[in-house]
Amino acid sequence: MEKLMIRGGRPLRGTVQISGAKNSAVALLPAAILAESEVILDNLPQLSDVAVYSEILEDLGGSVSWRGDSMAIDPSSMSSIPMPNGKVKLLRASYYLMGALLGRFGEATIGLPGGCNFEPRPIDQHIKGFEALGAEVTNDHGSIRISAKELRGAKIYLDVASVGATINIMLAASRAKGSTIIENAAKEPEIIDVATLLSAMGAKIKGAGTETIRIEGVDSLHGCRHSIIPDRIQAGTYMVAAAATRGDVLIDNVIPKHMEAMTAKLLEMGVEVHELDEAIRIVGQPSYEAVDVRALVYPGFATDLQSPMTSLLTQASGVSIISDYVYNNRFKHVPELLRMGANIRLEGRSAIIEGGALHAAKVRAADLRAGAALVVAGLTVTDGVTEITGVEYIDRGYDSLVHNLRELGADVWRESD
Ligand code: EPU
Repeated sequence: MEKLMIRGGRPLRGTVQISGAKNSAVALLPAAILAESEVILDNLPQLSDVAVYSEILEDLGGSVSWRGDSMAIDPSSMSSIPMPNGKVKLLRASYYLMGALLGRFGEATIGLPGGCNFEPRPIDQHIKGFEALGAEVTNDHGSIRISAKELRGAKIYLDVASVGATINIMLAASRAKGSTIIENAAKEPEIIDVATLLSAMGAKIKGAGTETIRIEGVDSLHGCRHSIIPDRIQAGTYMVAAAATRGDVLIDNVIPKHMEAMTAKLLEMGVEVHELDEAIRIVGQPSYEAVDVRALVYPGFATDLQSPMTSLLTQASGVSIISDYVYNNRFKHVPELLRMGANIRLEGRSAIIEGGALHAAKVRAADLRAGAALVVAGLTVTDGVTEITGVEYIDRGYDSLVHNLRELGADVWRESD
């Protein structure tokens, strides 16, 4: 097992390039299953989740080849092989295999997804969507088996605006007979990215990015080439790290519109933020104001940035409150920040943070974004080396993290435990 070592206290300075979005990539890779000829995805991030997904596509009989940061996927000889165990358990996003295989082959057997289990994460809305499209869904010893003689378009109201359910229903409905309407759909940029790929494959989708998505099913989908949107969570993490270290960083290859909630909060704290066409510059300041943050569905403040933001708020003067209205209890970073001397109290879905200096400690990343929070915290520490274990979680979501931080002047390295 590896650990991440950070001798903090150095302001981050320079430029960082943001890679393609993980949460788009893990939906676009299975979406390629729906095509009957080659799909090329450009700007793919180099992440363990992407590597596992490409192996799953090969296990299903597809051919996959990397060309730089592009991947060519030929799904023409794939079949719906049951995948009750193994790699699907490593990924949360393996649930997209359900919608993609159901759409192309009319059946799928997939083990319940794994990934970052910071709290129970049900998939009842995905299942409700598949059933509305005419599929029969059974749970067989921890595997979900879904099959349909014929998928038929339907009107589906999501009880929660779930990113995963919205995408999964879009995948299956693209090949259903007739029209599907998803009401109370999630509006995250990753949904628009998947709809853009599906449209380039020949699907008929309107309204992605709004709460009502209309899909007119088609008989077949073909190959295409698509470039993945930049990773807004990675970008937000570097924004926070630049501010926390009082640095000056140009975060390049971002869509500033995706960052509006983060930008607004940083400005409210007193951070200098400059929005450019495809970049954001963060200029840190000696002191920051405490603020209140509510993590909500998009376009609200992203829950995936709640944990790193908690670390930045330890650097503000006074008491900040950060609440998560997407997940009930996504605070596994808090006990670790307490080890580093943070003054944080948990109350229901909120963390109440009193600003103050953090100290070097041995801490453990319990999930991906909790790990990002510990990295930001470690970068601020001036009294020694912070040791972070659980690096395998961080590797799931941050392409070239150590390289990028070192380029920005941080004293960061990996060690074997
Ligand atoms: N929910 C249900 N039933 C469902 C689906 C979701 O009750 O059938 C609830 C969840 O328990 C949660 C809320 O709805 O409280 C939102 O969940 P959503 O389905 O939107 O999340 P997801 O699709 O499982 C994706 C990202 C997460 C990100 C969320 C919210 C991927 C692979 N994962 O998860 O990313 O937190 O959307 O934006 O796209 C991460 O990157 O660290 C991460 C966890």
